[in-house]
Amino acid sequence: MRRWVLARRPDGAATVKDFNLETVPVPKIGDGEVLLKTLYLGVAPVMLRYMTNETSFEKPMEIGDVMIGRGVGRVVASRNPGFGIGEVWQAKLGWREFAVIDDDPYYMPFRMRHTDLPLSHGISTLAMSGFTAYIGMHDIGAVTPSDRVLVSGAAGGVGSQAGFIARALGAEHVVGIAGGPEKCRLLTERLGYGAAIDYKIDDISNRLDELFPDGVDVFFDNVGGALLDEVLGRIRRRARVVICGRISEYLLPPDQCHRYRNINCIGLRDAKMESFFVYDYAEHFDTYETQLAEWIRDGRVHPLEDILVGLEQMPTALISLYEGTNAGVRMVRIDPDAERRPAP
Ligand SMILES: NC(=O)c1ccc[n+]([C@@H]2O[C@H](COP(=O)([O-])OP(=O)(O)OC[C@H]3O[C@@H](n4cnc5c(N)ncnc54)[C@H](OP(=O)(O)O)[C@@H]3O)[C@@H](O)[C@H]2O)c1
Repeated sequence: MRRWVLARRPDGAATVKDFNLETVPVPKIGDGEVLLKTLYLGVAPVMLRYMTNETSFEKPMEIGDVMIGRGVGRVVASRNPGFGIGEVWQAKLGWREFAVIDDDPYYMPFRMRHTDLPLSHGISTLAMSGFTAYIGMHDIGAVTPSDRVLVSGAAGGVGSQAGFIARALGAEHVVGIAGGPEKCRLLTERLGYGAAIDYKIDDISNRLDELFPDGVDVFFDNVGGALLDEVLGRIRRRARVVICGRISEYLLPPDQCHRYRNINCIGLRDAKMESFFVYDYAEHFDTYETQLAEWIRDGRVHPLEDILVGLEQMPTALISLYEGTNAGVRMVRIDPDAERRPAP
């Protein structure tokens, strides 16, 4: 089987030379272990920080370690009564064609229960990116029908679901920010946004004046920096500012990160600004999965998946996230038969 390992630590943006593709035997399992055949692997901006050991929540990586990442896999051998042959699980599988896991909570496994839906949703809506959008809009943003909602990074993995979720919670005024006319069209034509702001072309300040003359109630922010500052200046009384990510600043040294001018608006307007980490909500994943599966079935949420094919694509899939080439949730199909269901 093939697997990708860390060849060297990236200096700023990652390049293909930071990864090595190795071929090794398919591992054998011992007592308590499970062998999963990888169907899909996800990529996320945070993986760059795994490679440089910059996160507090992921184990440190040594050079030569298998790249860390979550995926969807089917159980092909099991010496653990908790995992049945043929079941589909979402877990930290790593960038490899087969993975051995056990009961160690590190792997954070959860069984996909809604396998009538495409299994790729185990990387998108029925997994971390969908749960992240749901937590931000529902648990933290506490969106209500009268709220005027704004989302940045709206055509990316999380943002492509955040608009649908805000609408499913009843909000009617939901606006997305993305880069370029094509992505902005996607927001209004396919992703449930009522209007779009093109941060690369539009005068953001004018567009915010037009679309939010009375201010923003909920800002779901994936981007951070100057854009967040601009919106902070326009929040309404008792607004909720949801700090989901800061993708515009991940590659910057701390001294080049934005200095906020409008942070005082949080206090002036009795607003709330809260950051969160999806793994801290693990006890609720089953509830989120059930709610999101229901919204997919009744047509309120349409997962947009950007699927590359073949394990060899993994480094490109990750590197190009930072170039904004993806629309929706970027993932890689590892098994060509990933969607084939076993005969009953
Ligand atoms: N809090 C959590 O637990 C949690 C969980 C998952 C993800 N996140 C964070 O959420 C954010 C979005 O994640 P994702 O998986 O949706 O990522 P994604 O699919 O890579 O989408 C992010 C989008 O951000 C835009 N972008 C990139 N660089 C930008 C810049 N300099 N300025 C403005 N926009 C930029 C790109 O679209 P454009 O072409 O429109 O620029 C890109 O498609 C990331 O910051 C990630 O770290 C947080």
